[in-house]
Amino acid sequence: MGFSEGDAKKGANLFKTRCAQCHTLGDGEGNKIGPNLHGLFGRQTGSVPGYAYTDANKQKAIEWNQDTLFEYLENPKKYIPGTKMAFGGLKKDKDRNDLITFLREETK
Ligand code: HEC
Repeated sequence: MGFSEGDAKKGANLFKTRCAQCHTLGDGEGNKIGPNLHGLFGRQTGSVPGYAYTDANKQKAIEWNQDTLFEYLENPKKYIPGTKMAFGGLKKDKDRNDLITFLREETK
């Protein structure tokens, strides 16, 4: 099963409770523990200027989109072995669909 459209409102709440302590979304907002996610869709892994990524994250060398995020966010350490992102994953497909639907709009 891959990504399918979710509920952006539920995704907003998931972002707030599960991601916002480490990531910002807006254009020009700073990096926190993790990189700013503005412009995420369509860019290569590890490409926010000035953010100190692990080699593992940089060298994954895939494009972030709804399908790669769907797989990554289920289990980040499995998708990118060696990542320093301390997040266990969102195991429910529905939660990932909701969050990715929200992110797709809010990172534009
Ligand atoms: C405890 C802090 C923390 C939490 C919580 C967290 N992240 Fe991260 N995230 C990071 C760090 C640190 C990195 C950089 C990883 C590396 O360089 O190995 C990262 C990397 C990423 C990347 C790759 C960015 C790129 O430019 O390649 C994405 C996408 C991402 N996080 C999305 C999320 C989402 C969505 C959530 C919520 C479900 C989340 N993260 C929760 C800390 C966190």
